[in-house]
Amino acid sequence: MNTALVSNIKTHFIAKFQDNPLMIFSPGRINIIGEHTDYNDGFVFPAAVDKGIVAGLSKSNSGISTAYAVDKEEIIEFSVNNLKPYPQGSWQNYILGVVAEIQNSNKIIDNFNIAFGGDIPGGAGMSSSAALENSLVFGLNEIFNLGLSKEEMILISQKAEHNYVGVKCGIMDQYASMFGIKNNALLLDCRTIKSKPFEINFKDHELLLINTNVKHSLSDSAYNDRRLVCESISGILKVKALRDATEFDLDTIKENITPENYQKALYVIQENDRVIKASKAIEAGDLATLGNLIYASHAGLQHQYKVSCEELDFLVEQAKLNGHVLGARMMGGGFGGCTINLIEKTATASFKKAVSEAYKNKFNKDCSLYFVELSDSTGIIA
Ligand code: GLA
Repeated sequence: MNTALVSNIKTHFIAKFQDNPLMIFSPGRINIIGEHTDYNDGFVFPAAVDKGIVAGLSKSNSGISTAYAVDKEEIIEFSVNNLKPYPQGSWQNYILGVVAEIQNSNKIIDNFNIAFGGDIPGGAGMSSSAALENSLVFGLNEIFNLGLSKEEMILISQKAEHNYVGVKCGIMDQYASMFGIKNNALLLDCRTIKSKPFEINFKDHELLLINTNVKHSLSDSAYNDRRLVCESISGILKVKALRDATEFDLDTIKENITPENYQKALYVIQENDRVIKASKAIEAGDLATLGNLIYASHAGLQHQYKVSCEELDFLVEQAKLNGHVLGARMMGGGFGGCTINLIEKTATASFKKAVSEAYKNKFNKDCSLYFVELSDSTGIIA
């Protein structure tokens, strides 16, 4: 836990609201494998991390609600009885969306104050947005005694994202952040919304994240567009979701769909299969196989599903050239953010230096490298 972040948020809260806040930490996530499979009712393999959002909350007695984004030094005031979305792309919609969706679930809340900040770099593909939504729904559940279960809370966070933020996301990010277990990754079945924890100890290997520090615009509309393609193909196949289809099934309709959409659906079917194979490889301690699956995932995201970008592809190429990186791929929705790399510990220092220089030479900008620890879920900070 980032204690400096906690005390910074608490100090700002007290200075602004002259009240003692309930403090919540909500983690971001990584995803070992299983990208764009969650909204196809498929499998994913995320883990909560030690970076995330810290929020302080209390009831308001002024008749209005105030949300204070400490990092951005921005404040909004609103009444829970009169909510209107902000323009697309505004952070305010995460807050207002959660409030609206709590109300849509027939729970009553009063006005409140929140101050929040985080240590996940924005646009890194580590789900700072799900962490913010979860911190708020979790905090409001506590201060207004709403009696919501964690399962209900993540559905509220997800609906906030669908209806206020405008991204038709799956459930992976909210789930990982709400149900994370220290030192574990979760093999999540996104149909049943049940997961199996896997203790992660890669011994002489570790996970390294490399942030491209880019987030290309249009990523939200491309995301929604991919989801529509998947839904239309599962409609043609007459299955509930692509999770229910095999490559054989897909081939029976190959002539009725465009080659591009065929490749997208094929990617989803294959990626889903890779997640299960990866979980078996982890169980068997077979990191070489895990690494190959991770590289194959990237190739699918790049060439079939087409959600990667030049910067991500370059970082994955550098990983391949290095020889000590067993697997690397883009992580999250795509079009920017981080790659996740499974690397031999003794090779990390030299790879960091080489990849940083190569990236700078190629794009004339810096990439950032991070290690994360797998952490516990959203909860109250003692
Ligand atoms: C974003 C979404 C998730 C998931 C990933 C891609 O992070 O929020 O639901 O679809 O992209 O795997």
